[in-house]
Amino acid sequence: MKIAVAKGDGIGPEIMDAVLKIFKAADTPLEYEFVDMGKWVFDKGFNNGMTPEALQTIEKLGVLFKGPMETPKGKGVKSINVTARKTWNTYANKRTFQTLHGVDTVFSKAGIPIDITVVRENIEDTYGGIEHMLTHDVALSRRFITRPGSLQVIRYAFEMAKQKNARRITCGHKANIMKITDGLFLECFYEVAKNYPELQADDVIVDDLCMKLVTRPDSFDVVVLTNLQGDIVSDLCAGLVGGLGFAPSANIGDHISIFEAVHGTAPDIAGKNIANPTALLLSGFGMLRHLGLLQSAVMIENALLYTLESGVHTGDFGDKSKPSVNTTQFADAIIANFGKKPSHNPKPDLVDVPSACTVFNLEKNAMMESVEGENEKIVGVDMFIESNVQPEEIAKKCQRHAGVKFKLINISNRGTQVWPTGSRYTNLVNQYNARFESLDGEGLNQQDIIGLYVSLSGDFKIPSLELLNMWGDKKGYSLAQGQ
Ligand code: NAI
Repeated sequence: MKIAVAKGDGIGPEIMDAVLKIFKAADTPLEYEFVDMGKWVFDKGFNNGMTPEALQTIEKLGVLFKGPMETPKGKGVKSINVTARKTWNTYANKRTFQTLHGVDTVFSKAGIPIDITVVRENIEDTYGGIEHMLTHDVALSRRFITRPGSLQVIRYAFEMAKQKNARRITCGHKANIMKITDGLFLECFYEVAKNYPELQADDVIVDDLCMKLVTRPDSFDVVVLTNLQGDIVSDLCAGLVGGLGFAPSANIGDHISIFEAVHGTAPDIAGKNIANPTALLLSGFGMLRHLGLLQSAVMIENALLYTLESGVHTGDFGDKSKPSVNTTQFADAIIANFGKKPSHNPKPDLVDVPSACTVFNLEKNAMMESVEGENEKIVGVDMFIESNVQPEEIAKKCQRHAGVKFKLINISNRGTQVWPTGSRYTNLVNQYNARFESLDGEGLNQQDIIGLYVSLSGDFKIPSLELLNMWGDKKGYSLAQGQ
């Protein structure tokens, strides 16, 4: 069984060498093809941080085991980590956080066990990185939440929860505020939940979720979230079990999967052979399980747990009164403990299962096959106007341009209505949203919208516009605060 390996930057090569040494000592039946990815590849002029050969190898083998990588700052290039996840549609980011005996935390000291798996959507949300300055003072980030993208990651989360015999699966969201985007994610969650009656499916607003994770972490099991919220919540969970040094991550796609630690390149300790390889090793267990190599995964994991329990530690954790070991010594201690079982939560012996991972070429993209909603119609348009005059004056001009097809409904500034009603205490920036709807309630077409745009552009600069769509009775747009 062959996988692609990229050692990464900073502490990457040190911790990867330690993990591969452990795999070798355990006779793990894996072969490696090392690929060129990371900062030094950017520096050579490859703008996506990997060579074409690396891309080809990873697409051929389907599994990438990677060390942390640095994205050069200020060169206008995108993060290689995000590029890799998006290029290969590794739509589910699974991060497992478990109490490890020997890694002291407030919860372990209080005897509160933690076993939480966070599944974070990995492609969409603001991570599309589609951002624009609309005026000199106003920046816009587009946040995409799609139905197929949400269904894909939520289905994965439910299936994984079922396989792990989870009792509860929770959707974290902010649908009370972002009713359309997070609302869609939540709707998809309950749509999928119908197929899993054996799981307790519920939802918690993300701020409340953060509080509950800190006060009652043992009440959670599997948590699924959109990208940015998932990113933040998973680091919070890492803190519950001892920090980033113990946070593994699997980026799962239908064809290609990437296994890596959550932490970065730790430039402050790079080259000193003192980094903690545990997070990468835990990520390696996830990879071995993904590949069906359960026997190796269980044997090494028991040895790691035994080693942690016996107090062996690198400098970043553990009992400071006892001397720490370096990266190589930590790996050697684990190897010396092969065959031993920890007294807390030993992993049961398992036999290997044939791997279900296959890589095949996609002939068509299934996510493009959307079922068009019935009765889709354009009922209006939001014109994002640049202006530094008062709302009354904007309204007067807009009404002149509305013509026979449109009526001006309202004007808002930063999402708060300022016309026809509003408060003089609302602070204004130099960008308004003028909302126009069809005068007679009939559907509009794109030519109507362009006609209005051309007319308005005589008076205003309009950096952006959005159509107001409806599907049957369902509005595809939000209302302004106060509307
Ligand atoms: P970082 O995770 O590299 O370091 C934060 C702190 O944690 C540092 O004090 C570091 O010494 C410590 N630390 C991290 N991993 C450790 C380990 N295994 N053992 C002991 N101590 C450890 O985060 P930072 O400094 O924000 O990022 C550094 C670089 O890493 C940046 O270029 C960033 O873009 C990149 N990065 C890459 C990631 C990836 O490849 N998946 C993820 C996060 C950051």
